[in-house]
Amino acid sequence: PTPETWRRVDAYLTRTLVGHDPDLEAAVAEQRAAGLPAIEVAPVAGKLLHLLVRISGARRVLEIGTLGAYSTIWMARALPQDGSVVTIEAEPRNAEVARANLDRAGVGDKVEIRLGRAADVLPTLEGTKPFDLVFIDADKESNSIYIDWAARLGRSGTVVVIDNVGRAGEVANPATMSAQVIGTQRGLELLGRDPRFDATALQTVDLKGYDGIAIAVVV
Ligand code: DHB
Ligand code: MG
Repeated sequence: PTPETWRRVDAYLTRTLVGHDPDLEAAVAEQRAAGLPAIEVAPVAGKLLHLLVRISGARRVLEIGTLGAYSTIWMARALPQDGSVVTIEAEPRNAEVARANLDRAGVGDKVEIRLGRAADVLPTLEGTKPFDLVFIDADKESNSIYIDWAARLGRSGTVVVIDNVGRAGEVANPATMSAQVIGTQRGLELLGRDPRFDATALQTVDLKGYDGIAIAVVV
């Protein structure tokens, strides 16, 4: 299929199954206006995250990479009354945009934004109640570190979701020169061999292009 085809299908699926939400659309608009990169998950993927939170019955969600909180809002809205999200963001400007977007969407009280490099923030979360679902969508170079922390901060049954594991097919290139792709490959290989995880990944095409998403459970 050509990009025109999959964009048309993505638009069809989005209007048929996802619909419109003023707060989510405002979050994207504010993010664009603030000059943040247009790399938030597609609406169909945001809805997938929302459904994974619901299906798993997650109450405590950890997100690594907030950006403007588009995916954060999707997940926070899937939580029960007493549910919460901890989301880690390295860029103070992104965190400001995210905070305003979360508050506008009415989920501000459910979401704690932790500012800093995830590799520094994650160890500070040790000793808290285990997370039920972890969404990894930050600097791809560090995916292995984040996947390891997902197991440490989770429990048996914790769901781990990793964005951008296809990278327009580049993930299957053993000679890739991209540090991001190499990080993605190392992360997938860790998921495949580490007995703490049972995992798979799907190639995806949506309005962001040809990429992929990995899903794992902590054994
Ligand atoms: C990039 C990062 C993402 O998380 C994404 O979904 C798409 C692109 C990037 O850094 O290029
Ligand atoms: Mg991403």
